[in-house]
Amino acid sequence: MFEAARPTGAKADVYRELAQMAAGLFREEHDAIANAANLSALLWMSLPDLNWAGFYFVRGSGLVLGPFQGRPACVRIEMGRGVCGTAAARRETIIVPDVEAFPGHIACDAASRSELVVPLRSGDRVLGVLDLDSPMASRFDEADAVGVESLAELWVSASDPI
Ligand code: SME
Repeated sequence: MFEAARPTGAKADVYRELAQMAAGLFREEHDAIANAANLSALLWMSLPDLNWAGFYFVRGSGLVLGPFQGRPACVRIEMGRGVCGTAAARRETIIVPDVEAFPGHIACDAASRSELVVPLRSGDRVLGVLDLDSPMASRFDEADAVGVESLAELWVSASDPI
């Protein structure tokens, strides 16, 4: 059983604690889907003001929904489309303070106001993205980007190729 209080404090400290928890969850497990499912749940239970947290994986020429927490979401996203497809195509983290101001944003949940998408990079390849949505405008900043990137890296290094 996994029991933990929601980490509090400065964002850097929260993400450091989450990285320790994620490393613990991944220690004896290499299955990419299982680890993605547990990382989604860890983010969902630990970070305030989220309405979606989860994965999209590269499949063929696009992205396909992976493990997540939140409302049912769009299943397939073309590479280069929406925030997720743009982050995957550019291989870059994207912080969107206001989703209505992002051209081509895909609204899976009308409650979303801001979004953070981090690519899952393995060497030269992008395996997919880790996506967080919030009902609050400007919910995510550089500290969230750095923290979620470190969790994405942990997931890539702990998990068998997807
Ligand atoms: N908003 C994303 C789509 C995925 S959902 O937020 C879960 C996008 O624009 O790519």
